[in-house]
Amino acid sequence: MRQAALPERIFSADKVWISSGAQGREQIERSRRKWQVRRFDLVQVHNLLNWQEHLPTLFALKAEGRIRYAGISTSEGRRHRDIEQLMRSQPIDFVQITYNPLDREVEARILPLAQERGIAVIVNRPFHEGALLRDLVRQPLPPWVAEFDRTSWAQVVLKFMVAHPAVTCAIPATSRVAHVRENMDAAYGRLPDAALRQRIVAAVERRPMSEWWTYTLADFLMFSPRIYWRPFELYIVAIGPAQFVGAAFGLAARGVRGGTPAAPR
Ligand SMILES: NC(=O)c1ccc[n+]([C@@H]2O[C@H](COP(=O)([O-])OP(=O)(O)OC[C@H]3O[C@@H](n4cnc5c(N)ncnc54)[C@H](OP(=O)(O)O)[C@@H]3O)[C@@H](O)[C@H]2O)c1
Repeated sequence: MRQAALPERIFSADKVWISSGAQGREQIERSRRKWQVRRFDLVQVHNLLNWQEHLPTLFALKAEGRIRYAGISTSEGRRHRDIEQLMRSQPIDFVQITYNPLDREVEARILPLAQERGIAVIVNRPFHEGALLRDLVRQPLPPWVAEFDRTSWAQVVLKFMVAHPAVTCAIPATSRVAHVRENMDAAYGRLPDAALRQRIVAAVERRPMSEWWTYTLADFLMFSPRIYWRPFELYIVAIGPAQFVGAAFGLAARGVRGGTPAAPR
């Protein structure tokens, strides 16, 4: 990012994700240093974890000019009632939810509410963690996608979401530069209107499903492996130095109690 002089040009968004409210500021500051940005544009409370303590921290950081916007996040339709209630009761700027042509629950209440209250919407899991595209690419693109200038299924799906008037942006994840380019390209050209969006939903619902023998272990996981690993990562970060202190005490105690172990006969 530094080489490309990006810190000044990107919209930097991260999350606070720690159960202790008292450590929220510290976690955000640690992330900021890693990002090497002057301040985050947006910080969200991840999966509403301890929002009761983190949201006041985010509002205070915003008032101090240390972040520009405060938000909350969820995924896969979890805790939509709580999300809705917070959108009504808290002065949040952003909400991050799951939305794609298969997962459309947010269309009923959350997206209209976001529009009504002027809350920006970030769409996560746009490709159903990749499974949606793996099925879709097995069929050719319908000719009508030319009406909104698209050349791949990934772009069709992304345009479906960003064409919704309540949606601010989608955040597809990828490990490939070619996919980054392809996904970013969906930000250009015409958008599908309501009728074309309906056609996208119909095409996605009719998609050929992958055969069972093509499934990998990851297809049976509710979240990506990274999500399962993350609590261990946080735990290791939280207790890091304590491990060495504990080991030192253990060794010292052993020395005091037992002295040198007996030599084998
Ligand atoms: N509670 C929360 O706040 C929450 C929860 C879940 C996710 N998120 C966020 O949402 C974002 C996306 O979520 P996600 O990783 O779950 O799923 P996703 O974006 O729906 O899918 C990612 C998968 O799609 C593939 N992909 C991306 N672009 C592609 C393209 N153009 N053509 C073909 N395949 C493509 C990727 O494979 P390749 O690597 O091969 O491109 C990857 O396997 C992430 O930033 C994540 O942090 C937030």
